[in-house]
Amino acid sequence: MITSMFSRNVKQVACLTGSIVSKRSAHGKAYPRVLITGGLGQLGRGLARSLRDNYGSSSVILSDIAKAPQEVLEDGPYIYADILDFQSLQSIVVNHEIDWVVHFSAILSAVGEQNVSQALKVNINGFHNVIEVCRKYNLRLFSPSTIGAFGPETPRNPTPDLTIQRPKTIYGVAKVHMELLGEYYNHRYGLDYRSARFPGVISADTKPGGGTTDYAVHIFHEALRNGKYKCYLRKDTRIPMIYLPDCLRATVELLEAPQKALKSRTYNLSAISFTPEEIADELKKHVPHLEVEYEPDERQLIADSWPEVLDDTDARKDWGWRHEYDLPSMVSAMVQALAPKSQGSFEVEV
Ligand SMILES: NC(=O)c1ccc[n+]([C@@H]2O[C@H](COP(=O)([O-])OP(=O)(O)OC[C@H]3O[C@@H](n4cnc5c(N)ncnc54)[C@H](O)[C@@H]3O)[C@@H](O)[C@H]2O)c1
Repeated sequence: MITSMFSRNVKQVACLTGSIVSKRSAHGKAYPRVLITGGLGQLGRGLARSLRDNYGSSSVILSDIAKAPQEVLEDGPYIYADILDFQSLQSIVVNHEIDWVVHFSAILSAVGEQNVSQALKVNINGFHNVIEVCRKYNLRLFSPSTIGAFGPETPRNPTPDLTIQRPKTIYGVAKVHMELLGEYYNHRYGLDYRSARFPGVISADTKPGGGTTDYAVHIFHEALRNGKYKCYLRKDTRIPMIYLPDCLRATVELLEAPQKALKSRTYNLSAISFTPEEIADELKKHVPHLEVEYEPDERQLIADSWPEVLDDTDARKDWGWRHEYDLPSMVSAMVQALAPKSQGSFEVEV
């Protein structure tokens, strides 16, 4: 469960986190001040909502390099922050009295292969800036990794936390670099670095940002709009996935986990693993006339190099991770969320 730190007193918060939590208090309550980078992507807004529920709206600063839509501006503080600009990151941390950074800025796998130099800049140089600022100002840093940090030589089912990592995308290479640097900064400087390897994230209210797992979101939009979907992966391609509410809850739980409970800095996170054919069959229970074609493109090669099932025993043991959504409940929740907004003129059972 997401715990409400906002309702705890100062002493309890210090005990929970075991380190540098904000000393600030409002109405006698203590809470950390959090900066989210890359916050206009698939995950940022939802996480800001969860954290604001816990710590109060003004404690969570959402940031990105794009102009925010009106509803984001109405939800709480939003600022411009380019992670390639070290000076400006420093001034944000100082001026906004940041305690924790959630680093979401990234160029994802499929887009990264289209623009390797941009992926290198954002995913490697940008991460150097973020981790250095966190070291300098003694901040807690959560920066998610991915199933894309593994490669074809990795055991695929199940994939343990510690194993061979030889990814074949620039996205994956940068994430291995990030994992190692985070662990090194923790070992060398005591930086409170935390990471979970997210599976592909499925969400109803935000669009995916150009990853190899995006089909598992597109299929809902196309099924509900046209009753048809052309999938860019083979029908038997099994990949680990997670429904957004589970992913956000995992992020908050790992962010808030007591320092002493964490035996590792990077944890596999597992929820559901399915193939395009399995999700299509489940979706047909709601959209009976759905037709799906399979026409693999270059993303098939990426998917074939990734795990089928992650072993997340350590996350479950160390900080109590449990997923809630399985395939049927995720599909049903997605249909319920998207069906009212879709323009389709055929039978849908929500
Ligand atoms: N969505 C997934 O399925 C998934 C799976 C595994 C891991 N992750 C990880 O979770 C994190 C968030 O993913 P997401 O899906 O929200 O990504 P996304 O691609 O949807 O959003 C990334 C954001 O980064 C921003 N950005 C790009 N360059 C920037 C710069 N120079 N400075 C600041 N911001 C910049 C973009 O504007 C974008 O809004 C990433 O680290 C990603 O690797 C995501």
